[in-house]
Amino acid sequence: MLAVKINKVSKYFKNNGARFDALKNLSINIQKGEIFGVLGANGAGKTTLLNCINGMLIPDKGNIKIFGKELAKNRKILEKMNSVSGETRFHWNLSANQILNFYCMLYKVPKAEREKRIKGLISDLEISEFMDKKFTTLSTGQRVRLVLAKSLINHPKLLLLDEPTLGLDPDIAIKVRKKICDVRDKYNTTILLTSHYMHEVEQLCDRIAFLHKGQLIDIGSVKDVKTSKFNTYKIIIDIKNPKKAPLQRMGFKVRGKQITKQLKHDQDISKVLSELVKGGYKIIDMEVKKPSLEDYFVKMLK
Ligand SMILES: Nc1ncnc2c1ncn2[C@@H]1O[C@H](COP(=O)(O)OP(=O)(O)OP(=O)(O)O)[C@@H](O)[C@H]1O
Ligand SMILES: [Mg+2]
Repeated sequence: MLAVKINKVSKYFKNNGARFDALKNLSINIQKGEIFGVLGANGAGKTTLLNCINGMLIPDKGNIKIFGKELAKNRKILEKMNSVSGETRFHWNLSANQILNFYCMLYKVPKAEREKRIKGLISDLEISEFMDKKFTTLSTGQRVRLVLAKSLINHPKLLLLDEPTLGLDPDIAIKVRKKICDVRDKYNTTILLTSHYMHEVEQLCDRIAFLHKGQLIDIGSVKDVKTSKFNTYKIIIDIKNPKKAPLQRMGFKVRGKQITKQLKHDQDISKVLSELVKGGYKIIDMEVKKPSLEDYFVKMLK
């Protein structure tokens, strides 16, 4: 059974009387236990999609099944889900501690377990210093960490993370990413994530989808998607004894002791190196420059 089945979903908004298509006939299958990244430029429809999955929005066409059931007909699925969004707000007058306790009640965490569960999250997300502060007095990063703690309180089977590390210090962002992986490993949680940090997506996601103006453009493993738009990659080699003319005949660009060559994405690098060794060249250093997800993202938006 799939964790999430997005079937021909369209979502329209009215903008000054005119219809605006935020999602267009979108179909995506997400497997159980996957960390799935949704990528796209500002306004591509990522948050709209996550809000259709968590029931905040209702698709105008198509349907979404979560663990085989439609949310519209089975609101109980919400108990197995949780989400993080920049939009999340809590009552201004409640302290962080009261907020986590409130959500424990809401998600029916047994009373005997509550204290232990909250303590675990406080330690994992390093939020102890502001547990007694009221929500309105928290900084942006503190709020994000509190929202993350709230999102893990029910050990969700499906977790929707809309830009979960936005505004966090790099050291806390690293810990949050580790926590996301731990949650998946420990509870086999399926995680849907949007992020503008491409290194984060590369590090966390098993598969990604790229949306453009509400339409699905690419879907697959990070590696497959990013290489699909690039046929070549570059190798940069430093050699001790370069001989310009013979190296140029081998297809290298020669600049002092540094030589470079564009290889086809499926071309075997060891052949190139053994040719150099056979030619009597002494390799000092080597760098392989493969396209990054950031290169892919930039290329898609050109
Ligand atoms: N309630 C709404 N009413 C009208 N238009 C909306 C509404 N919510 C979203 N939109 C429009 O739908 C489009 C998709 O918005 P969405 O928030 O899903 O984008 P996004 O991919 O999450 O962008 P970002 O990267 O900036 O978060 C945008 O053009 C936005 O203006
Ligand atoms: Mg968004």
